[in-house]
This record gives sequence, C-alpha cells and structure tokens, in this order.
Amino acid sequence: MTHNPNLLKPPEHVSGLTTLNKSLFEKTVTLPCLVIKDVKISSVLPHVKKFLLKLDNFKPVRNISENEAHIYLNPDLVTRWSDLSADTPLLTESNLQMQTCTLTYDNFSLESVFRAVLPPQIEGTSSFTKVGHIVHVNLREHLLPYKDLIGQVLYEKVPNCRTVVNKVAIIDNTYRNFNMEVLQGDNDMLTSVKENKCVFEFDFSKVYWNSRLCTEHERIVTMVASGDVVFDVFAGVGPFAVPLAKKKCRVFANDLNPESFKWLNHNLKKNKVASGCCDSYNKDGKDFIMNEVRNLLPGFLNTKKVYILMNLPALAVDFLGCFVGLFDDSELVQEFDAPVVVVYCFAKGENCEQIAKDLLFEKVGWDISDKIIDLFRVRTVSSLKEMMRIRFKLDREILVKSGNQKRKQAPESGDLTAKKCCVF
Ligand SMILES: C[S@@+](CC[C@H](N)C(=O)[O-])C[C@H]1O[C@@H](n2cnc3c(N)ncnc32)[C@H](O)[C@@H]1O
Ligand SMILES: *[C@@H]1O[C@H](CO)[C@@H](O)[C@H](O)[C@H]1NC(C)=O
Ligand SMILES: *[C@@H]1O[C@H](CO)[C@@H](O)[C@H](O)[C@H]1NC(C)=O
Ligand SMILES: *[C@@H]1O[C@H](CO)[C@@H](O)[C@H](O)[C@H]1NC(C)=O
Repeated sequence: MTHNPNLLKPPEHVSGLTTLNKSLFEKTVTLPCLVIKDVKISSVLPHVKKFLLKLDNFKPVRNISENEAHIYLNPDLVTRWSDLSADTPLLTESNLQMQTCTLTYDNFSLESVFRAVLPPQIEGTSSFTKVGHIVHVNLREHLLPYKDLIGQVLYEKVPNCRTVVNKVAIIDNTYRNFNMEVLQGDNDMLTSVKENKCVFEFDFSKVYWNSRLCTEHERIVTMVASGDVVFDVFAGVGPFAVPLAKKKCRVFANDLNPESFKWLNHNLKKNKVASGCCDSYNKDGKDFIMNEVRNLLPGFLNTKKVYILMNLPALAVDFLGCFVGLFDDSELVQEFDAPVVVVYCFAKGENCEQIAKDLLFEKVGWDISDKIIDLFRVRTVSSLKEMMRIRFKLDREILVKSGNQKRKQAPESGDLTAKKCCVF
C-alpha cells in the first residue's frame, strides 16, 4: 500500500458546496487493520495505541466475535508492517490486513469538512468561539455564500451547540456587544458559561463576553489577594468582579451598559457572593473614577492594597487622564503604598510594547516609565494587533495636582488636567 494523503479527507467533489448534501461525503476506503484471533485486545493495544485511527464516531477497536477483533490503524502513520513498533508481541506481519470501510459525513471532523468545502486561500475558515450553547463566527465577505452550510456543520458537530450566530458588520459600539444573525438553531441568546469556578449568565446579544479572555481573567483573579480592594471600571457581567468578590476582596464594579449591570448583579447573586463584598454601579467610567474612586480611595490607602482594573482596550487609556491631579495635596497622606492600575490597550504595529508605552505616556501626559510594573501581551487579535496589559503605580506624583512639574512637558497634548480629561 502506498501512502495517499487524501485518503481520510472528504471526497474532492464537495469542494465549493454551498448547501450541505451529506450523501456527497460518502467515501469507501481501504484501511490498515490488525486482525487478531485468540489474542487478548488488552495485550496488543498498549503497543499500537499511538497508531490508532481517530475519526468522528468511529471505533478503531472492534470486537468482531468471541475470539476475533479488528484494530484500525491510521493510514497516514502505517502503510506496512515495519511502520509499527519493532516489538509488537504476539503478532506477525500476517495480522496486518487491509479492510474496506465506508466513511460518511458523520465520520469527518468539522475542520476536515470545512477544509474540503471552503475556499483554501484565506485564514480563519473554521475559527469560531463557543459561549455557552452559542457558537459564533465572524464570516468574512468571501465566506458569506457558505454561511448556511457553515451554520449547519457547526450546529451538528460542535458538542452542546444549540445556536450558531454570525457577527454582522464590525460595529465598535459603546457596549462592545455584537450585531448578530442567527445562522442555525434557536434564536436564544440567553446563555450560561463557567469560568474561574463561577457561573455567568447573560444575554449574549446585549452584553460583552469573550471566552478567549478566560486565562487573562484567571491571571488577574490569582494576582489579587483576599482582602485587597478592587475598582473594576469596565466590569461587564463580572468575570473579574464576581470571582474576586467571591474570594473576599472588596470590590467596586462598574459598567455603563444597563444590561451588563443587570447581569453583573444577577451573577453576584447567582454565585452567592456575600453582601458587602461587591458594590455595583451603572455609570460612565469617568463618573465612576471622579466620584467612587475619588471618595473611597483615601480611606484604603495604607491599609489595603488597591487595584484599579480597566479592561476596555479600545478606550481605557483615554480615561487615565482622570487620575491626574484627582486630589489636592492635603487630601492624601504623604506616604502610601501606590494603587496599581491594570489597564488594557490595543497596540497596532510591530513593536507592541513600545507602542503601548507611548500610548500610556501620551494619555497620562508625561513619561511614567518609573511607575510601570510590567507590560504583558494578552492575546493577538489579528495580524499586527495585540491586546496589551500594562500595570503601573498610581503614585502621589500622578494623583496630586500641584505635585508634579513634569505634566507641563506633555507631548503636544498640553495640560491634561482632571477637567479636560476623558474627552472623546
Ligand atoms: C471589553 S468589555 C470588558 C468587560 C469585562 N471586564 C470582561 O473582561 O469581560 C468593556 C466593558 O466596558 C463597558 N463600557 C464601555 N464604555 C464604557 C464607559 N464609558 N464607562 C463604563 N463602562 C463602559 C462596556 O459596556 C463593556 O461591558
Ligand atoms: C445529494 O447528492 C446526491 C448524489 O450523491 C443526489 O442524488 C441527491 O439528489 C442530492 N440531494 C439533494 C437534496 O440535492
Ligand atoms: C461513521 O459514523 C456513523 C455515524 O455515527 C457510524 O454509524 C459509522 O459506523 C461510522 N463509520 C465507520 C466506518 O465507522
Ligand atoms: C468480545 O465479544 C465476546 C462476545 O461476542 C466476548 O466474549 C468477549 O469478552 C469480548 N471481548 C472484549 C475484549 O470485549
């Protein structure tokens, strides 16, 4: 048998199909198979495990009768006896035989179906995200003719999927939710996901949720210790706020979207967060900083470690000006452990670390290299667009009005006083 790289792929004639016709996927193949008689499967299996053929809904090990079993092997790995490990005890070359099988649509993975059907050239054909029972895709122009097929394949092949939606147009709206078209399944956007040992429920069409931020949420939840104080300026439905409050941090969580605010409160209850651990607000971030943060922060300085989370990568840096000169000299104790700002931004270009720093300095008003704790690449959004996280110390020099001369040296942006900040 010679190796045929297309053997396990759907038939070539499915290429370009826009309506799913499952019978077109039927394919008869001959596969390498160990036919064993009067030998225990369990004594052979450990030696051939890595060669087993893996297909959807396909059993590579089959009990044929009382004393006969068939073990199907991957033809990409095994075409002749010598491809198997040298020491396959109890068997000889005669055990390796060719068997005919009919593969159907059900035996091909969704990736292999998409690869066979959709145009090859462009990335992202099968990139989709699952949010509870909802699978969402962001189909580019060239894939729109295939949207019915893509919807149906995802609906059938992604476990526990009940709804497939396509993001319609890229709208950078205020609340960061998507405009969606249902491609397949129920028009039910109310969903539930688990993250960091908490349950989050929300209406996916009305709020922001990104499953790809799961590990970043986890990192922050781990970074902050019980008893610390957290101001979450752009809290969404609570992926930072809820687990932090659950681990007994003192949390103040805010979101401008009334729907996010509603689900944030719902999720606090749902996860049995003790009352008094988390206060929630439905305000503009600027208002939240100028009032809640301003009023509460002095009381925590020196007694608590304070974090200010700002996860709105497209805009959060524009809110940093709010912190500059937020207090008069006499309002803050002379020495304090500086609160840590955790701010996210997008860096578009080659040197994302430098780009993120420049953005930070521009928005604060001067070079604050001395206050930066670290920069971290969170994820690649697209080629040359990175989501970055910067942590820096919000020290007296930033927080107190007259306390700094450097502000006057701000690059072209002039004097960023508290009053002028946050204008977009
Ligand atoms: C990128 S989401 C992040 C949500 C959450 N922290 C997370 O990690 O999933 C940004 C959130 O900021 C909210 N938002 C947008 N503009 C805002 C503003 N001016 N003030 C307060 N919240 C705002 C949006 O409604 C959205 O929930
Ligand atoms: C599906 O393809 C088969 C050919 O394999 C054809 O006979 C059948 O009519 C097609 N079904 C539909 C609904 O187009
Ligand atoms: C392919 O999947 C179908 C549906 O689950 C299954 O019944 C069939 O046995 C599989 N084909 C092979 C060759 O195992
Ligand atoms: C295979 O099936 C026979 C009955 O058909 C049974 O006696 C035997 O134990 C089975 N072997 C395994 C490994 O399942």
